[in-house]
Amino acid sequence: MMREVLRLENVAKSFGSVQALRDVSLTVNTGEVVALLGDNGAGKSTLIKAISGLHGIDRGRIIVDGKEVTIRNPRDAMNLGIETIHQDSSLAVDLSIARNLFLGREPVKAAFLGPLAPLDLPQLKRQASDLLRRVGIRKNLDADAPIKALSGGERQSIAISRAMQFFAKIIILDEPTNNLGVEETHGVLRFIKEVRDAGHSVIYITHNIHHVFQVADRIVVMRQGTVVADIKAEGTSILEVEAIITGADLHELEVDARRS
Ligand SMILES: Nc1ncnc2c1ncn2[C@@H]1O[C@H](COP(=O)(O)OP(=O)(O)OP(=O)(O)O)[C@@H](O)[C@H]1O
Ligand SMILES: [Mg+2]
Repeated sequence: MMREVLRLENVAKSFGSVQALRDVSLTVNTGEVVALLGDNGAGKSTLIKAISGLHGIDRGRIIVDGKEVTIRNPRDAMNLGIETIHQDSSLAVDLSIARNLFLGREPVKAAFLGPLAPLDLPQLKRQASDLLRRVGIRKNLDADAPIKALSGGERQSIAISRAMQFFAKIIILDEPTNNLGVEETHGVLRFIKEVRDAGHSVIYITHNIHHVFQVADRIVVMRQGTVVADIKAEGTSILEVEAIITGADLHELEVDARRS
């Protein structure tokens, strides 16, 4: 049974004179992948930054599991079961891969509790290696290596592994396959399906319309800070979705497609 897990009502957010979000309302259910689409500057990242505690909202309500919440910072979001992989990934570049994977939630040695408990480093490294395999990183990365020694795509994969392992109720991915190779991209799409099949929810932002049709149950399109369409993926087409994104007349696009 699907159940509503997240609802946004009339959310607005401005940066000075730029109204990034005008009046956004949106629901996300359990066991559902919602693709959030829209042209550059439509407000997608701003919306998910509001949900994940990176910036506040000027107006509107955020409701998680039926209760209105205030999300002041990333920790509030995490405590509500919301994990986000941002477009500009937020890894600590001087720390090791293993430390980044568990940042803030490192396994500590049994028999110790509290913030000063010593880290269980061998355990940390073992868990890190398992995770890297799961996201499809074939190359043998040393979990002790610092993030700054990795390529952009490898860093992105690490950020994704991080979200995978906490298996949050709601996982938000902001253009997660940018910079990724073929194998890693498949790893991400597989992960999205796994999360959904386990009854969790995913908000997936991408400009790759083919990926959308591989994993999304519902497609939400934003334009200029508002939601202009909210449709089932089944029963729509790439052409139709592209027309909604750009605001083009679908009939004209169909004529163009027939000509070419
Ligand atoms: N911190 C900020 N300060 C000022 N303006 C901002 C800020 N963040 C976003 N904006 C503006 O808000 C609008 C929406 O930006 P946002 O990053 O949400 O777009 P997006 O849909 O994620 O686009 P893209 O597909 O390019 O990532 C843009 O006009 C952008 O310039
Ligand atoms: Mg963005």
